[in-house]
Amino acid sequence: MRYTLILIICLSIFTTAVSQKFPDLAPTPPMGWNSWNYFKCDFNEDLIKEVADAMANNGMKDAGYEYIIIDDCWQVGRDQEGNILPDPQKFPSGMKALADYIHQKGLKFGLYSDAGTKTCKGLPGSRGHEYQDARTYASWGVDFLKYDWCHHSTQDAQASYTIMRDALYAAGRPVLYSICEWGENQPWSWAADVGHMWRTGHDIKDCFDCDLNTSSQGIMKILDQQVNLRKYAGPDHWNDPDMLEVGNPGLTLSESRAHFSLWCMLAAPLIAGNDIIHMSQDIQSILTDPEVVSINQDPLGIQAIKWLDYGDLEIWFKPLKNQEYAVCFLNRSERPKKLDFDFNLWEKVFDPENNWQKYTFDDAYQLYDLWEKKEIGKSTTPLKATIPGHDVLLIRMLLVP
Ligand code: GLA
Repeated sequence: MRYTLILIICLSIFTTAVSQKFPDLAPTPPMGWNSWNYFKCDFNEDLIKEVADAMANNGMKDAGYEYIIIDDCWQVGRDQEGNILPDPQKFPSGMKALADYIHQKGLKFGLYSDAGTKTCKGLPGSRGHEYQDARTYASWGVDFLKYDWCHHSTQDAQASYTIMRDALYAAGRPVLYSICEWGENQPWSWAADVGHMWRTGHDIKDCFDCDLNTSSQGIMKILDQQVNLRKYAGPDHWNDPDMLEVGNPGLTLSESRAHFSLWCMLAAPLIAGNDIIHMSQDIQSILTDPEVVSINQDPLGIQAIKWLDYGDLEIWFKPLKNQEYAVCFLNRSERPKKLDFDFNLWEKVFDPENNWQKYTFDDAYQLYDLWEKKEIGKSTTPLKATIPGHDVLLIRMLLVP
């Protein structure tokens, strides 16, 4: 009896020890840069080092961006023992040297693989090599893994993603685990214990409001898909509406600003996907705005509520720490919209996912325009403004002392 008890205790300690994600790696939404949205397969170690230099020097690191993530196309094959091989043309110095370079800048290093037999670009996936690959990543100094879902055949998503979670944990180096399963098997319903973030849909495209095929979609379509998912997100387990297109050629400056504002409201991971080496000052200012980023990084980690919908005009609402709120007025149309909004007439905001918690504005708030950097009124008087087409008015409601 005593031995059985000891055995049960040992077994449960062992099971807990091997079956979990690394905790507390993403108390607020992860921030970084990823090669895919702009560079696709066209990168090498020199480019990645330049990206690291740029991030360290252009204000992004100070704003909280941390991970440099190489997406698909870094791998070419496996050796006779099955070890994954980086492309020697692209990475002649090897992955460890590149990781060391990135770490010396005070940044972190991320890689990409796939739960199936091949990546989406047809390169070797990790299926059947999960523990081996996880040990390789640990030996190189990998801090982040994006794990894709191409060529998965009949595999079970939850089981497949759990195998890599356990492999990473067994390898012993803390790795932020980003599940990229495109929302096909509702990862929000099972992935909180598996990864730190999960894609909620198909690939983003640098197009504000367009209907594309099912494998890529514009910013507005992705936004619409997030509305009912907000209850699943929170510290250490985030909905991921996909990487940023801010600064990419298909978006105007105001569209980039609106896209960034909305991803901040959604408490989405902020993974830049543009050429941060050559970006304009305007785009850099969007990505690094400390007051806007702080909406995203608010410690409560509450994803915004889509509160009022007037068709082309939507109002999104995000509770922040210390009874403050962020409000985003989104103009989805191409024409400017006049806003005349009486805060006193606001219905109260209810949060159905949070036990119907009610947010009231009995106190007077200062309305602080986060992009224009100025107070534009008080909640006690109607707010009048004009919002340009495909743009936002983003405010923080500050309690008047
Ligand atoms: C899938 C992912 C993308 C990107 C590509 C790479 O489409 O969803 O984010 O990683 O694969 O091939």
